[in-house]
Amino acid sequence: MAKTLIKNIKGLVQCGENLPKIRKGAEMKNLPIIEDAFLALEDGEIIAYGPMSEWGGITDWRDLEVIDAEGKYVLPAFCDSHTHTVFAKSREEEFVDRINGLSYEEIALKGGGILNSARRLAEMSEDDLFDASKERVERLMSYGTGALEIKSGYGLSVDAELKMLRVIKRLKEACPIAIKSTFLGAHAFPAEFKEDHRGYIDLIINEMLPKIAEENLADYIDVFCERNYFSVDEMAEILEAGIKIGLKPKVHVNQFSALGGIAKAVELGALSVDHLEELEDADIEALKSGSTMPTILPSCSHFLSIPYGDARRLMDNDLPVALASDFNPGSTPSGNLSFVWSLACVKMKMTPEEALNALTINAAYAMDLSDTHGTISLGKKSPVILTKEIPNLAYIPYAFGDQLIERLIF
Ligand code: NIG
Ligand code: FE
Repeated sequence: MAKTLIKNIKGLVQCGENLPKIRKGAEMKNLPIIEDAFLALEDGEIIAYGPMSEWGGITDWRDLEVIDAEGKYVLPAFCDSHTHTVFAKSREEEFVDRINGLSYEEIALKGGGILNSARRLAEMSEDDLFDASKERVERLMSYGTGALEIKSGYGLSVDAELKMLRVIKRLKEACPIAIKSTFLGAHAFPAEFKEDHRGYIDLIINEMLPKIAEENLADYIDVFCERNYFSVDEMAEILEAGIKIGLKPKVHVNQFSALGGIAKAVELGALSVDHLEELEDADIEALKSGSTMPTILPSCSHFLSIPYGDARRLMDNDLPVALASDFNPGSTPSGNLSFVWSLACVKMKMTPEEALNALTINAAYAMDLSDTHGTISLGKKSPVILTKEIPNLAYIPYAFGDQLIERLIF
């Protein structure tokens, strides 16, 4: 049995029993912290914690690793509920095109963007894709990510979508953190189906979904509901087919335009609606009527120079907010959640506490991991973050660009 004791922790954050599964509205300011604390883990499970003055819990000191966390904080691992970590190649040339004046949407209309990534992924073997992706997961873990959602969506053919999903399945087995798999065949219309939406949707529903069910390759189903991509009706048809084989919806909506996709996704019981750079009153009303987690991706806003999601407006309406990275080669080449934390504070005016709730409790909800992740509570099986020596917790989003996460502890 591997036992770890972390002692002299400056602040043990988001720690306690019977903490809520969601923090919304004004509650997002709440963040329990035990000062001068200890934490004990056994085989990755949280077995004891408290202030140093109430030391207790471990009776058997054999094989015990003791970590002295003097001056350091311990947090629940970040949960990244929206990423595209499996991809073939980076896309710096489009980055330079945008500097020279083209927009993300213009590049996509010329056959770049998602279709560019799909061409490159089609040429790559499953093994090479797995190796490259595993290295990325390890890098994300070094930034403090202890649970990860990964989407397909750079395949856009039966073979290539299945290749991506098989890679995600292998990552689930090979990596020490929880990974959730999302089928995003409806990420874009491939060139040969540009004028034949019916044909591609039939391919998704009649060819891809049955194979995914047969091999148990996905937990969730996603659609990019956006002008020039999938309409609300097209999204609904695809989500309904996914629901029939047990996949919960978790969708891309309102990145560039508000088409009414949020109301439809909430109606279909979506676990989360993600992006929300554009947000209308009707979207807020729809969110109030359900239990879907609104998820904002500030690194995407930063990189594409598009508006930031209005977290304050959501919280003022007593709604919760989750934050995720959207790590992908086109719109968000960084999966660093400390940077997301900082952007949320600087650009979205979330307090450090609100943003950390959005990266832990609410993000765990957005990937069905509330029972194991998101808080430091007895019996939970989540890694924790050990920070470097920092003066206070707000220093992490304040000192943007610094790597202040020392490591994950399991
Ligand atoms: O979430 N918006 C759709 N999909 C991704 C970007 C995909 C890409 O450009 O490769 C996103 O931003
Ligand atoms: Fe995305």
